[in-house]
Amino acid sequence: MPIADCKIVELPKITDARGNLTFIEGANHIPFDIQRVYYLYDVPGGAERGGHAHKGLSQLIVAMSGSFDVVLDDGSEKRRFHLNRSYYGLYVCPMIWRELDNFSSGSVCMVLASNRYDEDDYYRDYGDFKQALNLRD
Ligand code: TYD
Repeated sequence: MPIADCKIVELPKITDARGNLTFIEGANHIPFDIQRVYYLYDVPGGAERGGHAHKGLSQLIVAMSGSFDVVLDDGSEKRRFHLNRSYYGLYVCPMIWRELDNFSSGSVCMVLASNRYDEDDYYRDYGDFKQALNLRD
């Protein structure tokens, strides 16, 4: 799928002097039902995560705390997104290679996913990913 389908989603934000509140409803604020939530934390400085694509999984990536970058690649175009607000999410559609880097100290990366963990849904080799894209064309 083209990288243009991947977008920053502005999530609802209830501002309050007691502290702000954001919520996410599956198939409402994001275009899929949520089957899984996972998060990256205690990421050491300079570390890189990701380095894979998914065959069918859709995801929303949110910087719950701190900041980091997500580089998306659809095989023909690359875009870097800087996430640093807990009321913005990056929607990542299937068949997009992603890499995460530039994590600030103490940052937390939360990912909402459309399916449970399934290693068979991954391309972990960039060459395999590119080959799969070419077969689709
Ligand atoms: P990995 O895909 O390398 O993480 P990242 O997306 O940050 O590069 O996953 C690290 C390990 O965690 C790997 O052995 C698979 C496992 N894992 C699960 O068991 N369940 C999950 O939901 C996820 C995302 C990973």
